[in-house]
Amino acid sequence: MKDKIVKLLDDAIEVLNAEQISELLEQPPKKEMGDYAFPCFRLAKELHKAPPLIAKDIADSLEQADFIEKVEVLGAYINFFLNKDQFASTVVSNSISDSFGSSEIGKGKTICIDYSSPNVAKNFHVGHLRTTVIGNSLYKIYSKLGYNVERINHLGDWGTQFGKLIVAYKNWGTEEAVKEKGIEELMRLYVLFHDEADKNPELEDEARAWFHKMELGDEEALKIWKWFFDISLEEFKRTYKLMGVEFDHYTGESFYRDKTDSVVKELTDKNLLTDSEGAKIVDLSEYDMSPCLILKKDGSSIYATRDIAAVEYRKATYDFTKCLYVTGQEQKLHFAQVFKVMELLGNEWAKDSLVHIPYGLVSLQGEKLSTRGGNVIYAEDILHEAISKIREIIEEKNPDLSAEEKDEASRIVGVGAVIFNDLYNQRIKDVSFSWSHITSFEGETGPYVQYTYARCSSILRNIDDFTPDGNIDFSILSDETSTELLKEINRFPQVVVDAADRYEPSVVARYAVDLAQAFNRFYTENRIAVDEKNVRDARCTLTYITRRILKDSLDLLGIGVVEKM
Ligand code: ARG
Repeated sequence: MKDKIVKLLDDAIEVLNAEQISELLEQPPKKEMGDYAFPCFRLAKELHKAPPLIAKDIADSLEQADFIEKVEVLGAYINFFLNKDQFASTVVSNSISDSFGSSEIGKGKTICIDYSSPNVAKNFHVGHLRTTVIGNSLYKIYSKLGYNVERINHLGDWGTQFGKLIVAYKNWGTEEAVKEKGIEELMRLYVLFHDEADKNPELEDEARAWFHKMELGDEEALKIWKWFFDISLEEFKRTYKLMGVEFDHYTGESFYRDKTDSVVKELTDKNLLTDSEGAKIVDLSEYDMSPCLILKKDGSSIYATRDIAAVEYRKATYDFTKCLYVTGQEQKLHFAQVFKVMELLGNEWAKDSLVHIPYGLVSLQGEKLSTRGGNVIYAEDILHEAISKIREIIEEKNPDLSAEEKDEASRIVGVGAVIFNDLYNQRIKDVSFSWSHITSFEGETGPYVQYTYARCSSILRNIDDFTPDGNIDFSILSDETSTELLKEINRFPQVVVDAADRYEPSVVARYAVDLAQAFNRFYTENRIAVDEKNVRDARCTLTYITRRILKDSLDLLGIGVVEKM
C-alpha cells in the first residue's frame, strides 16, 4: 500500500524521487488524518511556495486510484485514506500463506552467532540466560530471512582457573562430592582455593604449573579437566533442553588451544607484537584503546588470543558475512580490541563483519530467588520456579485441563514468561525481574501473548465449517478494529527485517504484544461465531492469520505456544 502511494506521489512530484518520498511519507497519529500523510514542508524552498499551497496543488494533480478512498489536505499535509475493502483484500491475500514474513534476503549468506558460552565449573547465571535468549532469537530471526546460521557455544573451558581447580580438588575434594553435587562442588573448591591461596601463595604457583601441564597435553591434568568439563556440560545441557535451545558447535576456548601459536606467529611476522614487562601485547594506543594482551609473562595464551584464533577459524570454516558476539556490556573493550587486531592483521572485512552485541544487566530488585549453596543463583532454578508459579495460575484458571496438558502448558508458558521478559526491552537496557509482572496474564508479557494465541485457537476449534482460503467478503472487515488489526498484520515482514537490521529481538516482542492487543480489541468489538456465514468467515480469517503470526512471532523469540492454558 505504501509503495502504491509513493508511486502516485512520485508521478505528481518532479523534484523528489521515490526513495525520498518514501522516507517522508508518515503514518499519522490520529485516524482523522488518514492512513498515510505526506508533509510538504521540504518542497517549499524548491517550489518557492507556501507548503499548504503545495499540498493542495499536488493533491489536485494526483491520479485517481481505486485503492484510495479519499485524499484530503490538512495544512501542509496531504492525507490519504485507504479504501478499506481493498486494503483488507491486499493484506489478507499477502498474509494468508504460512510463508508470510519469511524471505530470501539472506540466501547464500552465513551468519555466525557466538552466544550463551557459559564458563565450565561455574554456574549458568541470569546473565548467561540473557545471552542465550538473545542469541537464540537472533538465530531464529536470521533463519527466517533465509540466512544460514551457525550457532556457536564458545564455552569458557580453558585458562589458569582450571589449574586452580585441579589443585583445590587434589587437596580438598573428593570424587563422591563432585559426582553428587557437580558444579556446586566445583564452585566451592574454587572459592576455597582463593581463601587458601591468600594464606599460602605457593598454591598459585602450583596452579600455574597444572595449567601449564594442561597446555602441554599432560594426561592426568587433562583427565581431571575433561571430567569437570563433562559434568558442567551435562548441567548446561539440562538448562538448554528446558529452554528448547540448541547449538551447532560446542567449540569452547579449549578448541583453540592448538591454534594460538599460529596467531602469535602471524602477529610477530606482521610486527604487531611488543614486549611489555615480559608479556606480549598489541599496542592500540593509536586507537585510544588499552593494549590487547596476547601472551602472559609465563608464555600462556589468554582469552583474547583464543578469540583471535576463533575469528580466523570461523572465517576459514564458515566463510561468514557476519560474526555476532552476544555478551554483557562489560566485554565491550575486549571485543573492540580483538576486532581491531583482526583489522591490523590486514582483514578489511573485520570492520563490518565482526559485531559485538552487548546487553544490559538483570536487576533482581530484591526479588527472592531460590539459591543453592553459597547463595548463587542458577538460571535453571529460575526457570523451574517460573514453571511452578504458572502451574498454580493455570490450576486456578483452567482446572479442567488434564494433568499432561497442565504439565505441558506450565512448562511452555513458564519458560516463555522468563524469556519474554528478557527480550521485551531493548537489549542494552537493564531488565528488572519481578515475579508478579513476568507471570501475569495481562500486560506486556509472554503469558498474555500466549493466552491470546490460545484464545484464537479456541475460537477456531469451535467453528467447523471454516476454510482458510482467503475467499471472503472484504467489506465486512472495514470497521475500525478490523482495519487496525489488518494494519498490525501487514507490519510483520518489516518487523522481522528491522529486528535483524538492529540485532534487536525486542522489536519482535513488542510487535507480538501490539498484535495481541489489536486482536483483543477486534474480538471485543466483533462477534466471531455469528450466524451469517460470510461475516463468520471473514472474521475467522482474521483470527486464523493472527493466530499464525502470534505463533511465528513467539517462535522468533524462542518461545512455544499451547492450544489451551
Ligand atoms: N565465557 C564468557 C563469559 O561467560 C563469554 C564468551 C563470549 N564469547 C567469546 N567469543 N568471547 O563471560
